[in-house]
Amino acid sequence: MCSIIIPLKTAKGGIIMIEKRKVVIVGAGFVGMSMAYSVLNQGGVEELVLIDIDQNKTQGEAMDLSHGLPYAPQRMEIKAGDYEDCKDASVIVITAGLNQKPGQSRLDLTVANAKIVKDITEKIMASGFNGIIVVASNPVDVMTYVVAKVSGLPKGRVFGSGTVLDTARLRYLIADYLEISSKNVHAYILGEHGDSSLVPWEHCYVGCKRMLDIMKDNNLPTEDLKKIHDGVWKAAYEIIEKKRATYYGIGLALNRIVKAILNDENAILTVSTYLNDQYGQSDIYIGVPAIINSSGIKELLELKLNSEDQAKLDKSCNMLKQIIQNDLKDII
Ligand code: 2OP
Repeated sequence: MCSIIIPLKTAKGGIIMIEKRKVVIVGAGFVGMSMAYSVLNQGGVEELVLIDIDQNKTQGEAMDLSHGLPYAPQRMEIKAGDYEDCKDASVIVITAGLNQKPGQSRLDLTVANAKIVKDITEKIMASGFNGIIVVASNPVDVMTYVVAKVSGLPKGRVFGSGTVLDTARLRYLIADYLEISSKNVHAYILGEHGDSSLVPWEHCYVGCKRMLDIMKDNNLPTEDLKKIHDGVWKAAYEIIEKKRATYYGIGLALNRIVKAILNDENAILTVSTYLNDQYGQSDIYIGVPAIINSSGIKELLELKLNSEDQAKLDKSCNMLKQIIQNDLKDII
């Protein structure tokens, strides 16, 4: 085993075998349906169940998606269901909850969404579910904490979409800046899925060349790196201002996470992960690179951060801890 990989001490919840490629999406709004459309287009799932309080809409969505099946890469059973369907699901993705309004931050949604997500988690667990839960509801790091606490599932089997979307935005912007394929950009956003995220630039590579060396060798101004990061964390605000919500990017990001689980990929993704002493932090869920397979989070890939980046990550973690202490005390 590679020595750079740090075992996630608390994630040893036992390997779950994927018996059935059954995925349940809770929340048939724009995010849930963008994910469902991505699943339909990319395949890899045998049964896709949609759950939402608006059952009429859910039935319409299931019909609409099913009518695309003749042109999809594989057969799939798509249906509107209820919490009983969670019992034998491999993966449940929670997308339900309020969205940011123009001018709101994700953190403004904490109390309202914590109540919704708690209720959903109780219903999921009452079905006898024993698989993996991926949380997308915002603020995602805090909602992941709620789901983990309420579900009681092993730590490695509950995680959030974290900074998987932010990382995609970062790669897209770097690729655009350097005119290089985004597939060759190996860069990660760490921290909160929100305004306090950070880019550990020392660990950013384009092909096999360090981004910092590319900047230096081409006399590119380092201020541009800040502009790129600003473009990442401001993206959701800009999109929400223009079209009121973001959903295609997160839909694809969620499908990417679920594929890593179902295909037992050992893929490295910056999901919102439980920290137990890694990065000097504990009892918090936050976006860091983690290895994802059919058991959930197999291990963390712990980066050695310089003192400036460590301070930024600490700030992000401490801010989330404050929110958890203050806003969740009467809920969980
Ligand atoms: C996004 O970053 C709003 O969290 C959502 O697109």
